[in-house]
Formats: sequence, structure tokens, C-alpha cells
Amino acid sequence: MSEEERPKRRVRYSGKNPRLFHQKYKEQQPERYGEDVEKVLASGKTPAGMHRPIMVREILDVLALKPGQTVVDCTVGYGGHAAEMARAIQPGGRLIGLDADPIELPKTEARLRATLGLEGTDSLLLRRMNFAGLPQLLATEAPGGVDAILADLGVSSMQIDNPARGFTFKFEGPLDLRMNPQRGQPASALLAKISAKELTALLKENSDEPYAERIALAVVEARNRNALTGTTTGLARFVREICPGSDDTVRRVFQALRIAVNEEFNALNIFLRQLPECLAAGGRVAILTFHSGEDRRVKHALKAGLNAGFYSSIAPDVVRVSAEELRANPRSSSAKLRWAVRA
Ligand SMILES: C[S@@+](CC[C@H](N)C(=O)[O-])C[C@H]1O[C@@H](n2cnc3c(N)ncnc32)[C@H](O)[C@@H]1O
Repeated sequence: MSEEERPKRRVRYSGKNPRLFHQKYKEQQPERYGEDVEKVLASGKTPAGMHRPIMVREILDVLALKPGQTVVDCTVGYGGHAAEMARAIQPGGRLIGLDADPIELPKTEARLRATLGLEGTDSLLLRRMNFAGLPQLLATEAPGGVDAILADLGVSSMQIDNPARGFTFKFEGPLDLRMNPQRGQPASALLAKISAKELTALLKENSDEPYAERIALAVVEARNRNALTGTTTGLARFVREICPGSDDTVRRVFQALRIAVNEEFNALNIFLRQLPECLAAGGRVAILTFHSGEDRRVKHALKAGLNAGFYSSIAPDVVRVSAEELRANPRSSSAKLRWAVRA
């Protein structure tokens, strides 16, 4: 048989183009692919599996940390802010870090202990818990209150970028949206039983959705004839059909569901109410918010605390990201920083 007559063998998939999300991004292994991480950062994007801390300089200015202090990062995430805070309070300081996420927190703890050289010390205490429970933790860890508290609200880039967690509508995934997938119910379960009236209220309250009623009625109607899929891209397609145009509506619907399944406003309200008792005299708090529902609550709570004499001063206005940071990290665009000093 000549070369021409021989049947052509099917070209086999060489494996060069990764099929699965976790194979796709080299940046998921920063220790092996440091150069790739640098390139992604330089292009203004966030490497997969990483979170870029926002307004670090402004937050450190506000918190005015000193060696020996005890401080809390309520939302450790990837640990960017926590690392800077931990460095600023050495020698002799102690950082208490919290996060609700049982998937990311162990990775962050290992990374922080290694990079800060704090293995085997009690200068770093990390707890998987909701920051609404901070006073109970401080009752044993820092009974007189702490010197500084940071809360960087919302979700981390690691959570958003991992399709298996259901936070993004850009990739196919289960419609979950929980920071702690071991607690509560996924967004798909919420949509499976919510009434049109409740969904309308939820969309209005959680993301000021102008088409709340139209979306809620369509969702419940589709669900009742089993036409609603339990996936991220399925819901996004459905919302785009009801409200064609940009993806702003899809984004707001996902934000509203995320706030609902994580009971974010409830946790924030409790945290803000208890905040003064968690701070020692002269202690400082910095809070980063990412949408009006969060900022409104923080603004009112700090103002009420000032009027009640709990705080000696509060941020006269919100602090926004610099033009330089916005260029380098577009995900920071909606961030607003507020602060207060305990009387
Ligand atoms: C914007 S990220 C924080 C990023 C972090 N500052 C950094 O430098 O990497 C928000 C984090 O807060 C956590 N979180 C949100 N609400 C929470 C709550 N009520 N209690 C504890 N953790 C919460 C999320 O799981 C997420 O990891």
C-alpha cells in the first residue's frame, strides 16, 4: 500500500487547548508561572485564582496601624489586605482574620503563614465564620476590643472566577452563589420556590432592579412549566430574553440572588450594630462597599454612631479609587471606602 492509499488516521486531540476551567489558566499556579501572573496583572486583568486588594494605601492611612496592635480583617479573601495589615503591626501584633468561605480560606491561611513567616505563631488567627459573630469571638480573643477592623464586603475574584461556584454568568455552572456552599440553599433552590411577589421585592431591595416585576413574573411562569434551568448561563439567557440589551440586568439579578442566599444585608446590619463594642477606645474601622445597598447601610450606621457618641469622627464623604488604580484594576470601579474612629 502506497503512502497515498493508506487511510488517514483521525488526528488526535493533542491536549494543547485545555477543556476544563481548572486546566485553562496557568495563573492558578503562581508559584510555577510567575511570569504569566505578571503579564496578566500588567494587562489590567485579575489572574484566575487570585484577588487584587483594593485601596490598600488609603485603608492603611485610615487605620493608622502600629506595631503591637491587635487588628481584625473580617473578610480575608485572598489575604492581600490581611498581609499588609499583619506586616504593619509587627513586631508583637496579632491579626485575627475571618471569612465565610471554607474553600478559599485554607489556601489563604497556608499562603499567609508562608509569606509572612508566621508558621506556628499565634500572631495570626484565622477563622471560618460570618463576621456577624465577631463580638462572640472577641469576647475570648480580645475582650477589651481591638485597635482596627477592616471589612471589604462582597465576593472575591476567586469566587467570581470559579464557574463551579455559580457566581459568574460568563461560564456554565450550577446556579449556586453561596460563599459557604455547606450552609443554606443555592440560588437555584431559592428560585424553585419563591413567589413572584417575593422575587419582585428581593430584586428591588437587593439591586434596585427597575424591571423587577417583569423579571419575577417571567421567572415564576417559566419555572411552573419547567422551562427554567438551574445553571448560570441558563438564567443569564433567560433574563436577556426578557430584558434585551446590555448585561446590566443580568448582573443585577445575579447580585440580588447572591445577597439573598448569603443573607448579606442581615450580616452587615448585625455587624454595624455591634461594631462600636468590638473596638477599643481610639480604635479605627474601614469598610469597603461595592453597591448602593451596602454603602447606604454603612453611611447611616456610622452617622448614627457619631450622633450617639460611639465614634469621635467618621469619614465626611466616601473615598473613591484613584484614576491610577482604576486603570490597573477595573474591578475596583464601584468601590467606596468609609471609616470611623471609636470615641
Ligand atoms: C472582596 S473579598 C475580600 C478580599 C480581601 N480583602 C483580599 O485582599 O483578598 C470578600 C470576602 O469576604 C467574604 N465574606 C463576605 N461576607 C462575609 C461575611 N458576612 N462573613 C465572613 N466573610 C464574608 C467572602 O467570602 C470573600 O472572601
